[in-house]
Amino acid sequence: MASTVVVGGFFGDEGKGKIISYLAIKDNPKIVVRGGAGPNAGHTISDGKKVYKVRMLPSGFLNKNTKVMIGPGVVINPDVLFKEIQDFNASGRAFVDGHCGIIEQEHLTRDSKGELKEKIGSTGSGTGPANADRAMRILKMAKEVKSLASLIVDVPAEVNSALASNENVLVEGTQGTFLSLWHGTYPFVTSKDVTASGICADVGLGPKNVDEVIVVFKSYVTRVGTGPLTNELSVDEAETKGWSEFGTVTGRQRRAAEFDFDLARRAVMLNSATQISITKLDIIFPDCAGKTSYEEIPAEAKSFIKNIEEKLNTPVTIIGTGPNINDVIDRRI
Ligand code: IMP
Ligand code: MG
Repeated sequence: MASTVVVGGFFGDEGKGKIISYLAIKDNPKIVVRGGAGPNAGHTISDGKKVYKVRMLPSGFLNKNTKVMIGPGVVINPDVLFKEIQDFNASGRAFVDGHCGIIEQEHLTRDSKGELKEKIGSTGSGTGPANADRAMRILKMAKEVKSLASLIVDVPAEVNSALASNENVLVEGTQGTFLSLWHGTYPFVTSKDVTASGICADVGLGPKNVDEVIVVFKSYVTRVGTGPLTNELSVDEAETKGWSEFGTVTGRQRRAAEFDFDLARRAVMLNSATQISITKLDIIFPDCAGKTSYEEIPAEAKSFIKNIEEKLNTPVTIIGTGPNINDVIDRRI
């Protein structure tokens, strides 16, 4: 295994951050590199002592031997980035590409009102307006920002040379397949393609250099903001099931529905998944909480997993059984 790409299979918030942190420690990649839209992403990671909420920094930062990088396809908010580098002790091992786009105050202002805010329910992070300006060729780039100078590297060159030396590289996606500007529930989507192909383009990884694609699904579906959600539960039903969640970036209550095989099948196709990760199995089957071996989980949880493997014709290799990075069943080994 050399390059592993991890993407979301539903509408974001599948628990990618926790899976990526686990892989960043377990597989000890030389580089964890983030693609995706921008600081509209929110990943929650818990190492048992502390809960980290990241919006800009790749979720692999808990492995201190790993370099964390942001690919040129991503737009960055330097204030958010500097704060996370400081708060999470990533100084000296966090890098951005000179071609990352820069979010400025004006983008935040444009994102906090009008159509994007009211109709689409955008996160207000400035990501969409910055990407619009990039398409207009008027967005500032990271290499033009003096304060970022010490963080700038050629990310595609770093990624490809690590792979050429047989090192592991972990590619971190953000959002989820059905928030993709191309493949999602347009117009209720984010401002970029966020399927595996788009994420790889963001970091400069060509299609022939991808070894594994892990699509992450939560055991149920959630969606924050507006847009269609098939078989959406009422707030009460979601609360009764324990599926009521609140957004990392916006604090908004997430809408919820049962695991959707039609969406999942399409996500497997669009991302050319080689593996599936299922998160929050412990929410559906509380007896799974904290388990790290497949043998230990109850029969009904095993049949839930088996059904997913059969219907999606893809192995479920990594299963999340709790909020901590080690609450994982890893069936790759
Ligand atoms: P924007 O990307 O901030 O413009 O928001 C567009 C839509 O995508 C809204 O419905 C957001 O709630 C949703 N969205 C954007 N990023 C994420 C994410 O990381 N997780 C979940 N939903 C997201
Ligand atoms: Mg999130």
